[in-house]
Amino acid sequence: MEKLVYPGSFDPITLGHVDIIRRAAGLCDELIVAVLVNPGKQPSFTIGERVDMIRRCISGIDNASVRSFDGLLAQYLQNIGARAIIKGLRAVSDYEYELQMAHMNKKLNIEMETLFMMASLQYSFLSSSTVKDVARYGGDISEFIPEEIIEDVYAKFGRGKDGIS
Ligand code: COA
Repeated sequence: MEKLVYPGSFDPITLGHVDIIRRAAGLCDELIVAVLVNPGKQPSFTIGERVDMIRRCISGIDNASVRSFDGLLAQYLQNIGARAIIKGLRAVSDYEYELQMAHMNKKLNIEMETLFMMASLQYSFLSSSTVKDVARYGGDISEFIPEEIIEDVYAKFGRGKDGIS
């Protein structure tokens, strides 16, 4: 497969996302991590901050890059000449929501395909918000977040590890 897009909010990127990026990059010539706006969420990091953090975390994956887009995902795919996206599934509970989005995206762009990859077991409980909650109270996030951005996440919440402000 030529181009594959991995879309999401990445607020912030976690080790679960990096796991999907690594494995998906092995299946295509070019993997594009696309930071898009999820209108249902109030982000903690700006789009610029998220793109910068992702860039640092994926610098070792040669065929992966990061971009951002403010608009419909279905439109973005057309703009860049890509046909497929990949989404991670952590549990059955992700499925219903993902199915709805996949069908809507297909309605908007008939050429577009949505592929699913099972999240690795050790990351199946991770989400950006739970990691932010741990960081907010100074808990240890080193098992959940790439080391390149640990300080950025603590800094956002005005805390250091062990809860020291
Ligand atoms: N590891 C860790 N966390 C994971 C994960 C994994 N493998 N897979 C999913 N998650 C978590 C994320 O951390 C995030 O957690 P949070 O809710 O605590 O922040 C959550 O699962 C998924 O959220 P998000 O990244 O926002 O993805 P999404 O599936 O809700 O889709 C967009 C977000 C940006 C792709 C979607 O809103 C979009 O396409 N926006 C553009 C506008 C558009 O086209 N809308 C119509 C869509 S039909």
